[in-house]
Amino acid sequence: MASTDIPDIVISRLPIYLRALTRMMDEVNPNTSSKELGERLGISSAQIRKDLSHFGEFGKQGTGYDKKKLIDQLRRILKVEREWDVALVGAGAIGHALAHYNGFLDRGFRIAMIFDSDPHKIGTQLNGFEVYDVARMSELLPPNGIVLAMLAVPAEAAQLVANQLVEAGIKGILSYAPINIAVPETVRVQDIDPVAQLQRITYYV
Ligand code: NAI
Repeated sequence: MASTDIPDIVISRLPIYLRALTRMMDEVNPNTSSKELGERLGISSAQIRKDLSHFGEFGKQGTGYDKKKLIDQLRRILKVEREWDVALVGAGAIGHALAHYNGFLDRGFRIAMIFDSDPHKIGTQLNGFEVYDVARMSELLPPNGIVLAMLAVPAEAAQLVANQLVEAGIKGILSYAPINIAVPETVRVQDIDPVAQLQRITYYV
């Protein structure tokens, strides 16, 4: 099955399975079951089996899943069996927090280049990386093989910067700016908007 045929909601659960399984590697039993995984995640075992069935046969009747093997397979499916270099655009408050977060590298993502438009920031260092002029993205990103970016600029600048990222060959953008940015179909955008997430919570409170 082509990856585009698989519902995005299924893809969105795979990193959650991967994260849980990675934590479970500390435990003695090398195997787990959809039941055990489901109980830990609050997801039904049927859902987990159905999600994984999109990608072929994984577990065995009776013994369940070999955790290590399932982790390897999930990493391959999500293409995180390799390390990804990521560009960070916006060396402000969020940019600083992201640049100092060790959790990316632990899980296969390395902030490799940082860009900003502020002349006071260009040429300075942020966690050991030089901050480059945003105008140089097309020159610097392709030769470094960087196709992923995190966007941490003000909402007013986000669309313009997204256009520049697309022009520079970026294929995936994680956007912190609280607006919908438009990109060509070949580029994947994922938003992180904590306010929208809080609003989703307040509905239930
Ligand atoms: P900030 O104002 O501290 O930093 C923004 C950075 O973007 C600055 O360094 C600025 O020079 C740079 N910038 C502006 N225009 C640019 C352009 N055209 N090209 C390249 N760089 C440019 O803002 P902050 O707080 O870091 O927020 C960044 C984004 O994240 C905003 O869209 C904000 O709404 C969002 N956000 C911020 C949160 C926070 O806790 N600070 C929380 C959630 C979202």
